[in-house]
Amino acid sequence: MHTADNNYAFSALAAVEGLRLDAEQAAVLRGGLQSGFLARCMHPVTVEDLAESTALDRSRVEHLCRALRAIDVLHEEFGHYRLAPFYAALVTGGADGYALDVLNGSAVRQQLFTDLFASAGSAAFWSLGHAEQRALAASVSVDPFTSHGRTVMTSLIEGNPAWHEAFSTGARYLEFGCGLSGAMLAAAAMYPALSGVGIDISADLINVARARAVALGLSDRIDFIVADAAVYTYPHPFDVVLWSQFFFSSASRPAVLANARAQLRPGGLLIAPVLIPAEQPETIRSALDTLLVRSWEVPPMTSAELEFEVAAAGFVDITVHRNRFGTMLLARRPSLVGRDERGSSVR
Ligand SMILES: C[S@@+](CC[C@H](N)C(=O)[O-])C[C@H]1O[C@@H](n2cnc3c(N)ncnc32)[C@H](O)[C@@H]1O
Repeated sequence: MHTADNNYAFSALAAVEGLRLDAEQAAVLRGGLQSGFLARCMHPVTVEDLAESTALDRSRVEHLCRALRAIDVLHEEFGHYRLAPFYAALVTGGADGYALDVLNGSAVRQQLFTDLFASAGSAAFWSLGHAEQRALAASVSVDPFTSHGRTVMTSLIEGNPAWHEAFSTGARYLEFGCGLSGAMLAAAAMYPALSGVGIDISADLINVARARAVALGLSDRIDFIVADAAVYTYPHPFDVVLWSQFFFSSASRPAVLANARAQLRPGGLLIAPVLIPAEQPETIRSALDTLLVRSWEVPPMTSAELEFEVAAAGFVDITVHRNRFGTMLLARRPSLVGRDERGSSVR
């Protein structure tokens, strides 16, 4: 091998070493969040106290603390460990549960990405085991039990005046593809006049959503049904349909959109989150999201493509709203019979 090739090989290995360290740091953080170890370090604590409260061996606790200190999750002072301010903010803001959801979802995604290089490919979302399906669903949701989850949902809704008005005045709300129903339950907790139905084809996710509604005292206002969004019907029209579109396969979309229109009252709101907000430039995140959803035969729609699809299904007054928590498309079922208005704008 030439010296130049050797130099490139060493640089490449250094880059691989960086990736290894990132993945292992994420694993340590995940364990610390999952076990409650980090929550015990909100206030200064000794290794002995941690060993007693976690029932772990003292020497292992000491080395866990050192590893957590090395990755700047813990600080050490006068023989006590405590969470670094950055991570303490995660816990006090109630975002540590969601941080864990993101890391758990990432562990499932990592296996799926690796499997895509084998001839059998990776499992589609619907063929995954319950634990993997739940982990992925939680990682694209909000946690309705935490102030963080409710704040994220409120911020998304309040950023869209039509959405906020509908929910404040007691909308009847239908969610197509509610999954674990983080969004719907967080919204119902914040808007006491809201009521509705969440549907999903996964019976396991619906069971979890139902149990969460009971735990949150919301089951008198929110129902859950296992159903295909393409065919689900209800005797009374809804004011708002939320469509978690980036989990819906190409084959299902025309029938699902037609059904969303049919289940809405004239003038009712269709709301859909956008996975790929911009056309350009491609980012690592958008490329990986695209790779994953394409493997499930879900088209990775940009906001412009989604606008086009929704307009073709007969919706009007289409707008796209961006804020730091996400990009949402809003559209309406036409309110007047025979009206065929096509409008769209980006705010
Ligand atoms: C993961 S959820 C979205 C998260 C949800 N908005 C929340 O806040 O928790 C998307 C769901 O769409 C469901 N889905 C996909 N196609 C569907 C269909 N044709 N009918 C009903 N549900 C469907 C998937 O099973 C998946 O659980």
